[in-house]
Amino acid sequence: MSSVATAPRRRFDLGVLGNLLVVLALVALAIGLSQWQAEPLRWSFPGRGRVWAAGAVAALYAGFVAAIAVSRTRRARAQALPAITAQQRGDWLVAFASQTGFAEQLARRSYEALRDAGLHADLAVLGSLDAAQLAQYPRVLFVVSTTGEGDAPDSAAGFVRRVMAQAGELSATRYGVLALGDREYTEYCAFGHRLDHWLRHSGAQSLFDLVEVDNSEPGALRHWQHHLGLLAGHTELPDWSAPSYRPWRLQERLLSNPGSVGGPVFRLGLVPADGDALDWRAGDIAEIGPRNSAADVAQWLATLSLDGAEIVRHEDAQEPLSALLSRSRLPDPNAVRGQGAQAIADALKLLSHREYSIASVPADGSLQLLVRQMRYEDGRYGSGSGWLTEHAAMGTAIDLRIRSNPSFHAPSDARPVLLIGNGTGLAGLRALLKTRIAAGHRRNWLLFGERNAACDLHYRAELDAWQADGAIERVDYAFSRDGESRTYVQDVLRKHLDAVREWIAQGAAVYVCGSLEGMAPGVEAVLHEAVGVETLETMAANGRYRRDVY
Ligand SMILES: Cc1cc2nc3c(=O)[nH]c(=O)nc-3n(C[C@H](O)[C@H](O)[C@H](O)COP(=O)(O)OP(=O)(O)OC[C@H]3O[C@@H](n4cnc5c(N)ncnc54)[C@H](O)[C@@H]3O)c2cc1C
Ligand SMILES: Cc1cc2nc3c(=O)[nH]c(=O)nc-3n(C[C@H](O)[C@H](O)[C@H](O)COP(=O)(O)O)c2cc1C
Repeated sequence: MSSVATAPRRRFDLGVLGNLLVVLALVALAIGLSQWQAEPLRWSFPGRGRVWAAGAVAALYAGFVAAIAVSRTRRARAQALPAITAQQRGDWLVAFASQTGFAEQLARRSYEALRDAGLHADLAVLGSLDAAQLAQYPRVLFVVSTTGEGDAPDSAAGFVRRVMAQAGELSATRYGVLALGDREYTEYCAFGHRLDHWLRHSGAQSLFDLVEVDNSEPGALRHWQHHLGLLAGHTELPDWSAPSYRPWRLQERLLSNPGSVGGPVFRLGLVPADGDALDWRAGDIAEIGPRNSAADVAQWLATLSLDGAEIVRHEDAQEPLSALLSRSRLPDPNAVRGQGAQAIADALKLLSHREYSIASVPADGSLQLLVRQMRYEDGRYGSGSGWLTEHAAMGTAIDLRIRSNPSFHAPSDARPVLLIGNGTGLAGLRALLKTRIAAGHRRNWLLFGERNAACDLHYRAELDAWQADGAIERVDYAFSRDGESRTYVQDVLRKHLDAVREWIAQGAAVYVCGSLEGMAPGVEAVLHEAVGVETLETMAANGRYRRDVY
């Protein structure tokens, strides 16, 4: 039976320190004021009334302190983690290491999201675990902060000493890391990265790339939620904090792959509806607020005989019920039958955001996306891609926010760059190429994979023109359905190992954009063959190996 997981203990309570400082300051003040006392101090009885009054104040203060202590103890008990026993162990573990409580709060929310999705998950303090306990879980999510100068939180110091001192045996474990930090510190998210490194060296496989959170940035937390939703098999987990969208007008939508055997992919162009300046960098991400189709909303209202024009209150604003319904998850009509419009509005949950790699640069005059239309098994459109590629009419205002994604920005110098990707991953690579070409950096090698050359080469004319005038030095394609056998990006990369080594030896940076399943791990395995695990790790640490995979 495994040990009981407990909430982290701080070495000292900041509140106690604060109180001590206040008392010291009062003593210093009293000593200072006593300098002005001209006559010797004389003691006289203040009178019964004053003694009673002072006693009452002291009693009130003691009661107040006791009430706070009781409520804190109750809260701590309510938050205490249940014991994890071998018999009751879940399939998922959320383990956290927190110094001031934020990582713990996010770990609890992640744990609750998994449980709400019906998964059997446990929650534990990282420091309470050992390698054997960790190895029992097929899937582990770590939520850890960094403190001091790149250190682990106090509660994880023992784990670092006992467990991370040597590689573990975690080959059956798949994991994800949410690393909290602050870019103001030199050792940004250092403990998260150290843990990630140890996990990889212990044979664990990552479920997705480590998510860095700079100073509680809500966009990065939504990105973590995107992964959480996919893992939970429930992409409609409500956003922990809704993005502050701006309206962007949909001004272009073009089917990019007519005749393809794959899902339809669309090229979209958007401009700010309120005339704002275009401002982002290649590598950044567009967060989109999906909407239900007008037809779905109308049908839902009709089922309940409700009037969509009825005005309801939502977050200090008033709007027609139909407008609020369009951005919300439509509840099961039977669950809300008989309720008034405002009661329904009060219980609505907004549709969660979707992320798309930006395919253009501001100089293009519009924000362009490359979006694959997704469908559920029953034929319904995916919430985000369905809205963008099917339901939103041209000219519609799309809720959009740009998330800066520094970990996929282009190098600032002229170093050679290998751009590797598949499918809609070409979006992120195209924006990087545009930035490089505009800066006159022509040592670009594009390696791109899709199904058929005849229909699936997005931006074909542009890529051909760049190649023809030498803006892209080298292009290799992997069209998996064109040959006798299936050939993917990683297979083509493997054919050119010597050239890959040569480019990397010349200082090249490697950018990978596209599928998290299949392509990204396949490419990484070939890069390991080319330059070795350690070199690739050093490249990642130095920003020379960057990925935007989903
Ligand atoms: C950083 C980042 C960048 C992205 N860039 C792009 C991009 O440039 N172009 C693009 O088309 N998409 C991109 N995506 C994916 C995009 O955010 C959505 O996940 C995708 O459009 C599906 O959302 P949806 O709302 O249409 O489908 P949902 O309503 O979420 O789901 C509809 C159906 O599709 C399935 N599904 C959803 N996501 C996946 C998945 N990843 N793999 C397999 N099945 C899935 C669901 O299980 C469900 O059956 C990116 C994601 C991330 C995290
Ligand atoms: C004293 C102190 C030291 C910190 N040191 C680092 C650091 O070296 N690197 C980093 O990325 N973040 C550092 N941070 C930022 C924290 O990791 C970040 O605020 C995080 O959200 C805190 O999460 P927690 O409340 O779970 O501890 C530090 C914060 C504090 C207060």
